[in-house]
Amino acid sequence: MPKYTIWTIGCQMNKAESRQIADCLEAVGYEYTSILQKADLVVLNTCVVRQSAENKALGMLGYMRGTKRDNPDKCVVVTGCLVDSQTQELKKRFPQVSFFFKPGAHQELLEWARQNSIPEHSIPENIHYSNGIKPTAFVPIIQGCNNFCSYCIVPYRRGREQSRSIEEIVIEVANLISKGVKEVTLLGQNVNSYGHDLLKNTDLSVLLQSIHTIDGLERIRFLTNHPKNMSLKLIETMAHLDRVCEHITIPLQSGDDAILKAMRRDYTAKQYCNLVDTIRSYIPGVAISTDIIVGFPSETDGQFDQTMSLIKQIRFDTVHIAAYSPRQGTVACREFEDNVPAEVKRARVQEIEATQTQIANEINAPLKGTVVEVLVEGKKQSKWYGRTRKDKLVFFEGRENCLGKLVNISVTKTSPWALQGEVKN
Ligand code: SAH
Ligand code: SF4
Ligand code: F3S
Repeated sequence: MPKYTIWTIGCQMNKAESRQIADCLEAVGYEYTSILQKADLVVLNTCVVRQSAENKALGMLGYMRGTKRDNPDKCVVVTGCLVDSQTQELKKRFPQVSFFFKPGAHQELLEWARQNSIPEHSIPENIHYSNGIKPTAFVPIIQGCNNFCSYCIVPYRRGREQSRSIEEIVIEVANLISKGVKEVTLLGQNVNSYGHDLLKNTDLSVLLQSIHTIDGLERIRFLTNHPKNMSLKLIETMAHLDRVCEHITIPLQSGDDAILKAMRRDYTAKQYCNLVDTIRSYIPGVAISTDIIVGFPSETDGQFDQTMSLIKQIRFDTVHIAAYSPRQGTVACREFEDNVPAEVKRARVQEIEATQTQIANEINAPLKGTVVEVLVEGKKQSKWYGRTRKDKLVFFEGRENCLGKLVNISVTKTSPWALQGEVKN
């Protein structure tokens, strides 16, 4: 059997697509290997959201040039957000790559595999997407993005929004459950847009209700929610469907209205705070994650302070912080100079990190002595680990195999990053 391996960087969407690619390749007779040297087919799933991610992808492509020289029979195929519509240009730039396909274009990969794989394989009509043996899985529900935030490359690489049908998603989720999955995270650049291109009255609430009835599914999450169009209907649905976790990801990006405007985010700091208040009033204790960009062009100390004060006021459970990185082709890159010095960006990242560590510590400390429900995802250094419904990472000791089980854990110790505990008898 020919062997394949997949190298993945980037967001959850890329992780989900790598899982789907693995299923496609296995359906046509490839076998997985974790050893790159042994693979006949190497799939690189790339990310270019910031220069640092792009550099990793370029580094890997450079490495594959050498590998290909030593072993000319090896095939390298590339997907992910490095792939733009100029595939001819990409082929010239990276002759070591046999085939480029856009994120999510798995049919193209299958077509290519049909024509090029050794030996010939028949391609089944429908691929059932699986998940190895993990109890949690990511499931894409809407591809692409229509928002064009001024800093962001994603819409240029992933195209316009396209929702998958409810039927297709339900089949994928049911299939994942039959393979042992207990928790799914529905993915989209903006899941609030789900369904606007489908039959009338299809939206994320309707999808959640359809998935909620599938036997064997314990937990549902979804990300990302753009603050500009999070509906009350969705918040109400979240509140009353008991399998939907009390956890939500709503990127703030900046706490300053002028920066938000230049970012083309379509909301003000005040509107964002009101949204958080509404969500908290419907779902008490809800865990909120966010994304922040520091050092957007011309961001002053005062504007950064607005972001800091919002972080202190809202008290997020998790904050993903990024330093602004100009991306060719975006409006911000064209219109604004990247004029915040690297050391200022670094200092702002550190300032948020320090404050957020303290806040997370204060949020987690009261959990000591309480009992939390953990879905066990694996074992690390003799300790089981998993997450609570509010997405807190929990470690505990236990002799029994509890992979994929929901276990009640008494919390004995907390930190800003994780909880420690023991099985409650
Ligand atoms: N659709 C999602 C994810 C977008 S990319 C969303 O709207 O949040 C994930 C995160 O990367 C963004 O939230 C943003 O914080 C960050 N990001 C995107 N482009 C960036 C850039 N040019 N520089 C720095 N961070 C960026
Ligand atoms: Fe990028 Fe904005 Fe779309 Fe998110 S919503 S993918 S940040 S353009
Ligand atoms: Fe994800 Fe990176 Fe693309 S964050 S959407 S893989 S640019």
